[in-house]
Amino acid sequence: MTPALPAALAGLLRSAKRVAALTGAGISAESGVPTFRDAQTGLWARYRPEELATPEAFLRDPKLVWEWYEWRRGIVGKARPNPGHVALAEMERHIPHFTLITQNVDGLHREAGSRRVLELHGNIRRTKCFDENLVVESWPDTGEVPPRCPRCGGLLRPDVVWFGEMLPEADLTAAVEAAENCEVFLCVGTSAVVEPAASLPFYALRAGATVVEVNPGKTPLTGRASYSLRGAAGELLPALVAAAWKH
Ligand code: OAD
Repeated sequence: MTPALPAALAGLLRSAKRVAALTGAGISAESGVPTFRDAQTGLWARYRPEELATPEAFLRDPKLVWEWYEWRRGIVGKARPNPGHVALAEMERHIPHFTLITQNVDGLHREAGSRRVLELHGNIRRTKCFDENLVVESWPDTGEVPPRCPRCGGLLRPDVVWFGEMLPEADLTAAVEAAENCEVFLCVGTSAVVEPAASLPFYALRAGATVVEVNPGKTPLTGRASYSLRGAAGELLPALVAAAWKH
């Protein structure tokens, strides 16, 4: 067992019936997907993500926002799950009630084999109609950017949650329920500042769960978590799984 992992935590995980995990951009960092608050590179260096990921930005300049997502889709398309994603998928197979809640839109948790995944901020690989708010699977290539909805002619956009938009209600309800009813709550690779996801570990704490943070940096949760494991998810999560089930 690595020295950073308390033995009591491994025992707790091994015997837990209900575990929830919240992940953020940090878990995909080791897959080569830049975190949300990392500086952007290349053509996009002069834009702040918070200024592009809004319905207002899309209405003002749909081409710019669509192209930014094309660039991000390109990065995500090349990324593969890393040992951190794989460890969470493995945890799900050991724990009777395991809920994975993610703020990531990259789809890497499912690719790693996780089955029950609540994608609170949507999925960048899906596209929907801005006007109808319905998923669109395919559209004729007319060269227009962004393309248009084959049903109503509205503009197409990524099926992600932008700043100021509502989260998918059923998924958010399930996430709150999982946080309030788990024995162990893992908070992995998130700066824990964007609501409502940022409140989930605090709901878990209030309900008496053991809350474990996995992050190389400090966050608003660090001082409150039961355990704060400082390091990369791709190293610490496999070590945690090994300590709990492979000793
Ligand atoms: P952030 O970019 O805010 O935070 C990434 C976190 O990951 C930071 O706390 C880093 O310290 C940590 N980190 C970096 N590398 C890591 C590693 N190898 N292992 C573990 N942790 C690592 O991303 P999020 O917290 O996911 O929402 O951001 C939350 C939301 O803010 C995003 O989903 C996005 C944005 O607004 C929307 O677009 C709606």
